[in-house]
Formats: sequence, C-alpha cells, structure tokens
Amino acid sequence: MPAQRDGDPAIPRADGRVSPLRNLWRLRRYLRPYAAAYVLLLLAALAATGAGLAVPLVAQRVVDGPIARHDPAGLLRLGGLALLLGLVEAVLIFIRRWSQSSSSVGMEATIRADLYAHLQRLPAGFHDRWQSGQLLSRAISDLSVLRRFLSFGLLFLVLNVVTYVAVVVLLLRLHGPLGLLVAASAVPLFLISRRFGRHYHTASRRMQDQQGDVATLVEETAQGLRTMKAYGRGPELADRFARRARALHDTGVGKGALLARASALFDLVPNLTLGATLVGGATLVARGTLTIGELVAFVSLQLMLIWPVQSLGWIIANGQEAATAADRIHEVLDTPPSIVDAPDAVALTRPAVRGRLRFEGVSFRYPGSAEPVLREIELTVEPGETLALVGATGCGKSTLLSLVPRLYDVTGGRITLDGHDLRGVRLDALRRLVGVAFEEPTLFSMSVWENLTLGCPDATGDEVRAALALAQADFAYDLPWGLATRVGEQGLSLSGGQRQRLALARAVLGRPALLVLDDPLSALDVQTEALVEAALRRVLRDTTALLVVHRPSTVALADRVALLDGGRITAVGRHSELLATVPAYRAVLAAEPSPAPGLVRS
Ligand SMILES: Nc1ncnc2c1ncn2[C@@H]1O[C@H](COP(=O)(O)OP(=O)(O)OP(=O)(O)O)[C@@H](O)[C@H]1O
Ligand SMILES: [Mg+2]
Repeated sequence: MPAQRDGDPAIPRADGRVSPLRNLWRLRRYLRPYAAAYVLLLLAALAATGAGLAVPLVAQRVVDGPIARHDPAGLLRLGGLALLLGLVEAVLIFIRRWSQSSSSVGMEATIRADLYAHLQRLPAGFHDRWQSGQLLSRAISDLSVLRRFLSFGLLFLVLNVVTYVAVVVLLLRLHGPLGLLVAASAVPLFLISRRFGRHYHTASRRMQDQQGDVATLVEETAQGLRTMKAYGRGPELADRFARRARALHDTGVGKGALLARASALFDLVPNLTLGATLVGGATLVARGTLTIGELVAFVSLQLMLIWPVQSLGWIIANGQEAATAADRIHEVLDTPPSIVDAPDAVALTRPAVRGRLRFEGVSFRYPGSAEPVLREIELTVEPGETLALVGATGCGKSTLLSLVPRLYDVTGGRITLDGHDLRGVRLDALRRLVGVAFEEPTLFSMSVWENLTLGCPDATGDEVRAALALAQADFAYDLPWGLATRVGEQGLSLSGGQRQRLALARAVLGRPALLVLDDPLSALDVQTEALVEAALRRVLRDTTALLVVHRPSTVALADRVALLDGGRITAVGRHSELLATVPAYRAVLAAEPSPAPGLVRS
C-alpha cells in the first residue's frame, strides 16, 4: 500500500510546476480601490528617482564648470540646486512610504475578509478535507507575503526597471559605445533572473505548504493537549514536530542558499560592468574624447544601477513567494461553495411553517468515500411529533441529522419541509427554522450570552432565561460574570454536562420549527437528565423534533422511534412495540427491563 502523505491529496501541494504568475495577476481587483494611492506613490517614487538621477548630472556641471573655471558663485548656485533636489527627494519618499503602507495593509485586510467569508460559505465537506493549519497559514502568512509584495516588491520592480531604463538612456546619450556596454549587461541579468525565479518558486511553494503542516500540528496539539498529556504522548509529538520543523528549516536554508547564489551573481554583473567602463572611460579621457566631468557623471549614474540590480534577487524572491501565496489563496477562493441558495429559493418564515419533515428515498455518500452511509431512507416526522433515531454506533445517525440544516446535501432522493424540498428553501431561513445541538457541544470563545444567541441574535432576556431554565442550565447565572462570562476556547472551563446544557439551551432558543438534537442528554447525571427531560418534553410538544438517542431512558421523550441499520430504516414504531417485536432494536438499546440471560441463571 502506498504510504499516506501528510494532508489530503485533494489539497494541492508543491508540485514543482512554475506558476505563470496568473494567480498573482488575478488579485489586481483588490488593487482597484487603491489605484489612486498607487498612482500617487508611483509618481512620488519616480519623481524621487528623477531627483536622485539629476544629482550626478549636476555634479558633472560642477566639475566641468565652476571647478574647472574657479567660479565660487557658480559653485554655490549648483550646490544649492543639489541640496534642493535632495530635499525634494526626501519629501517624495515620505509621501511614497505613507501611501504605500496604508494601501497595502488595506488590500491585505480586504483579501483576508474575502477569504474568511468564503470559508464560511464553503460546506462542511470542504472543511472535512482541509487541515485547519493549511487554512490558517493561508489566512496569515500567505497574506502577509502578499502584503510585502504589494508594498515593496511590486513597487521596486517597477521603480528599478524604470531607473534601469532611464539610466541606460542617459548613459547612451553621454557616450554611445560605453552606454551600449552597460545595456548589454541586461542579457546575463535576464538569464540569471529566469533561472533563479524558476527554482525559487518551487522552493517557496514547498516552504509555504510546510508552514501549513507545522501550523496544523501546533493547532492539533493545542486542541488535544489533554489527551496527549494523559497518554504521555508528549515526547512522540515533540519528535513529530521536530521532524516537520526540521523539514521547514531545511527548505528555508535551501531557499536562502538559492537567494545567496543569485544575489552574488546580481552583485557581480554590475560591478564587472563598472570595472569595464572605468577602464574604457579612462582610456577615452586619456585620448581626450571624454571629459573628466563626463566620466564622473557616467560612473555616478552607473553606480545608481548597482542597487536596483542587486535588489533584483530579493524582488524576484518576493515576487515568487507572492505568486505562490496567490496560488494557495486561490485554491481556497476558487473552490465553489456547493451548498448555496437556488435562484428561486423561498424564504420560509416561522409562522408559515407547520413542520412536516419527510425523507423521501434519501441516500447519502460522503464526498470521496465509495460506500453510501445512508440508503433509500423513507421517514416522516409529523408536525409536532418527536421521532427518536436509534442505531448502532457508526450507522449514520449523526449523518442523517446533519442533512436537515443542509450541512451536507443529500446525494439521492430529497428531504422536504411542509412539501418544500430543502434545497429550494433559502439557507438563512432554513437555519433559522432548525435548532441544532450536535454530539460535540461546541462553545466559542465569547460570552455565554453570545454563545446562546448564536442563531438568534435578537433574542430577548426572557427568551434566554426560558431556554436556560429548560436546559437546566441556571448554573450560568452563577458564573463569575453571569451570562457575560467568556467561556474559554471551546468552553473548556465548563464541564462536559454544563457545555451540553448550554448547547441544548442554544438549540431551543427562539422556539425553532424543527429541533435536531444529537444525543442531547448523554453527559448528564440521572437526576439532571430527568429534570432536562421533563422540561424538554414541554418544548417538544409543539415542535417537530428528530433526536438521536442512545439511552432507553431518553427514548421515552419520543412519540415514535426509528431504527437505523446498515444505512436503512429497518423499523419504525412505538418504543414498546419495537421492543416487543424487533430483536435488533432490543439489541441496540440493550433494553433495561430484561437482564442478560447469563445473569438470570447465576
Ligand atoms: N465527515 C465524514 N467524512 C467521511 N465519512 C464520515 C464523516 N463523518 C462520518 N463518516 C462516516 O460515516 C459513518 C456514519 O457516521 P455517523 O457519525 O453518522 O455515525 P453515528 O451513527 O452518529 O455514530 P455514533 O452513534 O457513534 O455517534 C461512519 O462510518 C463514519 O466513519
Ligand atoms: Mg453520532
């Protein structure tokens, strides 16, 4: 069997292909709102460069004019001019830096907001496949790479190319043959750039993927800290982490070596050219075909090329990293959200809903898995009825529930609410109508109040109080800041049963038309369970409800029970009926009243 790679093969990884910079170009839409600022900063930068370029030309006039003619007044005039040019350059640089950082930070924020909004739209199936660290690294480090490119790389690329062309034109005008010599140095520079860019792209893609791997591991460790510690798995994890961190480090060092090699070459070429022009220029001065002032201007101008060429390595590296970041960000942005509103979707409102939920020949297969989890499910929950779903562990009960709020879409058949196919109901309306509590009662790092009103932001104090009373979650008032207490990340500062009761209160808040509860009482002690049950019974009276139930005691809440077995509903009926007539049902519920035969005999 082939070894499994880290991460899912569905997530694109470093493949060594060179990006045609297409994805970087596609980000230009984010540049649009800042176009004016960008033009301003480009103009400021160009003007600053122009002011800088003028200085050597002034120097040429100084050497060939006032100095040669011993003219102090002229010297003062030209010196003043040089000083003025320097001042103008400084002001322009200030303008550039200021508009540069404000626009690039703004762009980064917009892209990040879009990415986050898109992640919200993507279905549960997408998040099943993607490691959270890969998403995290895209939202954080890839975006900051892009910001650096937008604020520095791109600008200096334009600026340096313009400077290079302008200087070469000036050099050609100063002295044709010497200028041509400098212009010819662009050929080796181009060849080095191309080769370097190709290698660097592969390395930076690998590095950014590995950053995602490291982030995933850190996140998993933080989340599963208790389990890891309890199993004494610290050292093994540290090993695994060290391996991944090592891989990241090695890629980083490799990248550094590539950049170092390229930078050395980018340094060598202009210096070699400078040496050649110095020798050539001196010969020409000796022959009298070039003045000393012209040679000074020529060399000073040429010196201005050294930095743009030297920085080429850094700019290309930055550009390639940005291209990689753009690729990785588009891998998320280009994934179409598969669960969206149909164009003619209706917005069902609470008062208009009676609450008849039907599964009509529903089949479901998880994306990427061969076997369907649910096959040809036929099931009706009448308005106001409570149906309990019972079945062996792993048979697909939670999966069935997750189809109701459309976390996944059915792959066959349909689910209807009062005759409306769920896919024809607006998602926001559907999710308002359905109250859900999952097996894992997830709480977010916000206040208890905010956690409770997640699906119902305009709930009143009375409604919240009623929901808390129903879920026997009055303990929330005794928290240090009452309902304003922030519960920790994932609500870890609360006990399992407390979290479950808050999640239940959240589900029943706002009296949803449909209640979907996945084993809502599993973490409660017998007494609390009885209290919650009694209260829940009152809510369930006028709500259609689908509950997953593992314990016989909770089954009592339901009007009818459906047995899920092998992905199919194999029996539906009253608890007592099924208990009497369906052996499989008895087996699953490990029916309380009849003790195991072995025990009776002994
Ligand atoms: N996100 C997923 N992607 C792929 N397969 C999944 C996914 N979630 C669950 N499965 C598979 O679907 C099957 C049904 O899982 P499900 O969680 O619905 O079972 P369950 O009946 O709720 O079990 P339990 O009683 O233990 O909660 C299992 O075989 C499981 O491996
Ligand atoms: Mg389950």
